[in-house]
Amino acid sequence: MLKFYTHLDTKSGEEWIETSLQGKAVLSTPLLNKGTAFSEQERLALKLLGKLPYRIETLDEQVARAKTQFKRYENVLQKYIYLNNLRDKNEVLFYKLLSENLAETLPLIYTPGVSTAVKEFSHEFRQPRGLYFSYPDRERMGEILDNRTHAEIDVIVATDGERILGIGDQGIGGMDIPLAKLVVYSLCGINPYKALPIMLDVGTDNPNLLNNPLYLGWRHPRIKGEAYDEFIKKFVHTVHQKFPKCLLHWEDFAQQNARRILETYRTQHCTFNDDMQGTGVITLAALLSAIQKTQRPFKDHRIVVFGAGTAGVGIADQIYGALLREGISPEVARKQFWLVDRPGLLTEDSSNIMGFQQPYVRASHEAQNDLFAVVKAVKPTILIGCSTVKNAFSEEIVREMAKEVEYPIIFPLSNPTDNCECDPGLLLEWTQHKALVATGSPFENVAQCNNALAFPGIGLGAIASRATQVTDNMLWAAATAIAKYSKHSLLPAITEIQPLSHEVANAVAAQAVADGVATVTPHVAQNIWRPYYRTIKFKAQS
Ligand code: NAI
Repeated sequence: MLKFYTHLDTKSGEEWIETSLQGKAVLSTPLLNKGTAFSEQERLALKLLGKLPYRIETLDEQVARAKTQFKRYENVLQKYIYLNNLRDKNEVLFYKLLSENLAETLPLIYTPGVSTAVKEFSHEFRQPRGLYFSYPDRERMGEILDNRTHAEIDVIVATDGERILGIGDQGIGGMDIPLAKLVVYSLCGINPYKALPIMLDVGTDNPNLLNNPLYLGWRHPRIKGEAYDEFIKKFVHTVHQKFPKCLLHWEDFAQQNARRILETYRTQHCTFNDDMQGTGVITLAALLSAIQKTQRPFKDHRIVVFGAGTAGVGIADQIYGALLREGISPEVARKQFWLVDRPGLLTEDSSNIMGFQQPYVRASHEAQNDLFAVVKAVKPTILIGCSTVKNAFSEEIVREMAKEVEYPIIFPLSNPTDNCECDPGLLLEWTQHKALVATGSPFENVAQCNNALAFPGIGLGAIASRATQVTDNMLWAAATAIAKYSKHSLLPAITEIQPLSHEVANAVAAQAVADGVATVTPHVAQNIWRPYYRTIKFKAQS
């Protein structure tokens, strides 16, 4: 454990930190280090005198310097490495720099930039962060968790690296994703001291990684079936024993595991899958805004989802839930969906239908082999892409859709940018600017269906209420809060994530209370962590 504690001065409302560390140990602890901003008293008490240049700087002065340094780097990976090095040295400065330059830094540290870092993980590795639960260490999970650096934990983001963004099995490199998610959480107010990234290293089936001499993970084909489930069970149990109230956020699991894990543990622990639920919430929020613009009631929409994987079906589930809330019967609501995957439209006759796709299969006589044929037959009002197939929404398909619908709602959501189903500029051109568009990756002047607009608020709300579960109602509360916040576009801009997340958190926490899953009276504002320097006092270890 680290030798520092955070206290709250009830009079000023400011936090201060007590530590038994001194000298170099303080400077090399990123959550304590202030660099040139240590005050005179701190320099004396913490034995830093002479270890720093004479002049004492403010955080703002440090931010200005860091920004100049950051701007000198030109390529994405260099910028990503610079930011992470800064994080490894001085976490408050890192978060302050990011907070003030969200538009520029977030796409680097989070999607789409993080996908480059994931691929380069074993080559660019410098400093470990978070915890690695490797399959060979499976009997020592408690010991691993005890090796964390902070006593209390509010949120864990865990991945097994099997289905990263749109770039598949990345093995140990997947660790960069929980790291990135937690940066976004902390930018929105979750205390970085209490946030823990975890890699569940169960091997990799990616031959490039297995054959790469620099690969840092467990060099073994992925563990599957019962052994995998047992590993996950042990992990959840270990976490639950130590932190019964922490939020356990699952990230980037393969579709065959993602849903089963969530369904198994959803009612046992406060847990959330961002690829399914976060994506569902943000897409639903964008749809609620778009539907309002079409002035066509929700019940009259025909929805085609291209790519019926984790995200695609997760989105369909959220929309389905919203339709039920409109008073539409389950039978009628199900009929509003057409799911298309590799074999074409999913029907009763399609082979290899997975359990989670089953509720959406259509009658066999409706079978169509490709997306164009489906669009022609169905005349969808909403077309959502989660296929990772670049340019899948061709001009022919889009024009066909626009022929029948005044305001087609088209969301090419696949990431990274290279996998996007259609360039939004083309979508607008082919529909005489009538299409209502949201994308997965960032494009200028287009609403970005970015989970970062949803998950931090959901997490903050769950933590503030110490919820025992994340209920469907809490997710619905999040989606409606985001839609309400969206004034000029289908979704708020990414630069608005901080105030937006606080609104979402309030709605989610209130819903947790209404659903009877809150265990404390939530005060979201009191739970918000902000990047400023806390006074640090030395106390010798007793
Ligand atoms: P997944 O692997 O679970 O699903 C992809 C699906 O697309 C699979 O069912 C696959 O069979 C299908 N597919 C692949 N090629 C196809 C083809 N040629 N024709 C028809 N179907 C095809 O992956 P997941 O998690 O669902 O993610 C899919 C995409 O959605 C990724 O690019 C991901 O980055 C993106 N995504 C976007 C989000 C957002 O915008 N907020 C959030 C989550 C995911």
